[in-house]
Amino acid sequence: MNERASVGCRPRVYLETYGCQMNIADSQTVTAVLRRAGYDLAEKAEDADVILLNTCAIREHAGERVLGRLSDLARMKNRRPEIRLGLLGCMAQHNRAALVEKAPHLDLIAGPDSYRRLPEMIGRAGFDPAVDVRLDRAETYADITPEHDGSIRAYVTAMRGCDKFCAFCVVPYVRGRERSIAPADLLREIAELAERGVREVVLLGQTVNAYRFGEVDFGALLRMVARVAGIERIRFTSPHPSDMTDSVIDAMASEAKVQPYLHLPVQSGSNRILAAMDRGYTVEEYLRLVERLRAAIPSLALSTDIIVGFHGEERRDYEETLALMRTVRYDQAFTFKYSVRENTRAYKLGDTVSEEEKSRRLAEVIALQEATSLELNRASIGSVFAVLVEGPARRGEGMLSGKTPQFKTAIFPALGARPGDTIKVRVESATAHTLMCAAV
Ligand code: SAH
Ligand code: SF4
Ligand code: F3S
Repeated sequence: MNERASVGCRPRVYLETYGCQMNIADSQTVTAVLRRAGYDLAEKAEDADVILLNTCAIREHAGERVLGRLSDLARMKNRRPEIRLGLLGCMAQHNRAALVEKAPHLDLIAGPDSYRRLPEMIGRAGFDPAVDVRLDRAETYADITPEHDGSIRAYVTAMRGCDKFCAFCVVPYVRGRERSIAPADLLREIAELAERGVREVVLLGQTVNAYRFGEVDFGALLRMVARVAGIERIRFTSPHPSDMTDSVIDAMASEAKVQPYLHLPVQSGSNRILAAMDRGYTVEEYLRLVERLRAAIPSLALSTDIIVGFHGEERRDYEETLALMRTVRYDQAFTFKYSVRENTRAYKLGDTVSEEEKSRRLAEVIALQEATSLELNRASIGSVFAVLVEGPARRGEGMLSGKTPQFKTAIFPALGARPGDTIKVRVESATAHTLMCAAV
């Protein structure tokens, strides 16, 4: 490729995103900010004048991946010293001091509330990196329309930050205080997305159901979004169990567009550990919530997040997590080994479960979940689901993929269907992660 890719034309920026959906949505905001400032997007790092990594700090492993990638990019910068290399996002916020020291090739370090200032930070030539990691209680980027990627699903940030301060978690420190975006701004953005072909919106927030703007709570917001013409499916992630009010449950039960799927992170099945994590609920309260949800929304699918090996987790605590999983029978679970994070409240407590034991517990949790997912998916063989078509399936010529209302991946023959269509399919066979279907 041309060594000086953009001499004489608009400068090109390459943006790589790590972490959760909030980061994916933030990268779309960053893209919009940079377009406004005259940048074009590059498809790969080699073609870019500016390379930005939007990073995640949730577990140590997330940071290690980025540091590995940064050392590759540092070698590229040695060959082409004119490139500007920047680190954005949660890791920028979390590790700024260490980064300035350890990554001298970085030209800029910008936290999640600093993206408006990116063009001037990129432009600032200098020996020291431009660092901006001020957290801003007021920043919501409400006036910036994120650049959507053209798919039929769009992620829309409804609230930023988190006030929960779970003992293990860096998010409140790297994303700052909770703030909700005005309903009018959200509805305008969603209506624009619908006009451009989006059929499904996923409302985002670290505790998205804590959303509140004046009189509008999250249940009311769901009802408002359901009135937007062209939007057929509404989802949201992640709700916190403590904020799962009747208003939200009623909106899920009564608004047909709000899909029967909920990601409801539990973290542990032991009351002792939940208290140490400061999650704000007991196992009994969580199970009662699951009962209320299932009574209100009979076709509901549930997924969760589980951490094994948190500080002080004994074998019996962990067995209670397995027992809870057997009771709830989640459709899917995202499972993690506890990773001690600096600055969090659990940091000074340290690690009490060995790496080997964490791995053993994790493997067992995963095996139980795989078995449950498989059983539940197999039980749906013969059932008919409405699937919103997304695009070609990864494997299989002439096959398409899409999601059922319960957010399960369905694979089915194309038969003329196009992305954005909703079609009926019948499940013919199933794995733990996929439903193989035929057209009805
Ligand atoms: N706001 C969401 C979770 C966001 S982080 C919620 O409260 O539900 C996504 C998941 O990462 C968490 O649910 C948790 O299971 C996991 N996680 C967060 N911090 C972690 C840590 N220090 N070690 C291991 N897993 C962690
Ligand atoms: Fe982290 Fe807890 Fe906030 Fe979720 S609710 S982002 S786990 S502090
Ligand atoms: Fe990671 Fe930040 Fe999301 S820490 S999980 S990218 S909010």
